[in-house]
Amino acid sequence: MTINKCLFPAAGYGTRFLPATKATPKEMLPILTKPLIQHGVEEAVEAGITTMAIVTGRGKRAIEDHFDISYELENQIKGNSKELLLDEIRSLISKCTFSYTRQIEMKGLGHAILTGETLIGDEPFAVVLADDLCTNHNADGVLKQMIEVYNKYQCSVVAIEEVPEDKTYKYGIIDGDLVHGRDDIYRVHNMIEKPDPKNAPTNMAIIGRYILTPDIFNILRSTQAGKGGEIQITDALMQQAKNDRVVAFKFKGKRFDCGSIDGFVEATNYFYNL
Ligand code: UTP
Repeated sequence: MTINKCLFPAAGYGTRFLPATKATPKEMLPILTKPLIQHGVEEAVEAGITTMAIVTGRGKRAIEDHFDISYELENQIKGNSKELLLDEIRSLISKCTFSYTRQIEMKGLGHAILTGETLIGDEPFAVVLADDLCTNHNADGVLKQMIEVYNKYQCSVVAIEEVPEDKTYKYGIIDGDLVHGRDDIYRVHNMIEKPDPKNAPTNMAIIGRYILTPDIFNILRSTQAGKGGEIQITDALMQQAKNDRVVAFKFKGKRFDCGSIDGFVEATNYFYNL
């Protein structure tokens, strides 16, 4: 089955960006002029996906307005040179459908993904965390690369990158064996959410891109709160990994952790200097 839908969990509070995120969704913070979530939607479109499913929460209505027409504004700038600035977003809106559901209580990423089940149904799907901004300048984007991996292995795929050994406590960390003939794909046999460096089996960290098979929803339904009292996607993926149903993929390209101030500034400088 091909991947037709992309889920964007976007209900988190974004506390690291307070006060900016008090009334503005973190996903709407711009890298130059483009909000983080628009970068994510463009990556999904490049991968051949046009059905966007967004899990929002209280205070996130700006996301819905962004992927809609703004009659008053568009009428104001009609026929003047500023109209060009809306070309990209207009083209995205015309290509895609956007549907939304709300996570009522922020019980973690795993819970946000389970909340999205109503928009996804019984099919494999992509997940993009918009605060991880990925780019592979002029070459295949990360999601597109992952769909190729999914098409070959037909199981869940997590994107990984090597992180400094003292930073494992910020990520889901995987352990696995390289699959035959590849130096960038691991069959995962262990995953730990945010381990202390001394307990981390490797320094291979899961970043905010996943392809998930739909059995993940039933697993999430019975997953207890884990690290930080939140329902963790890593714990649910571990259940699939026990049956050899997860591969980890070292993607080509760059990732910016735009959920942190340092990563946000780094991404801004990178795109400014392109
Ligand atoms: P983070 O933990 O990085 O985001 O969640 P956060 O909680 O918004 O940010 P800080 O730490 O307070 O600054 C990773 C992703 O999962 C989503 C977030 O929106 C983000 O895209 N998420 C997290 C949810 O949708 N719901 C949750 O309950 C938790």
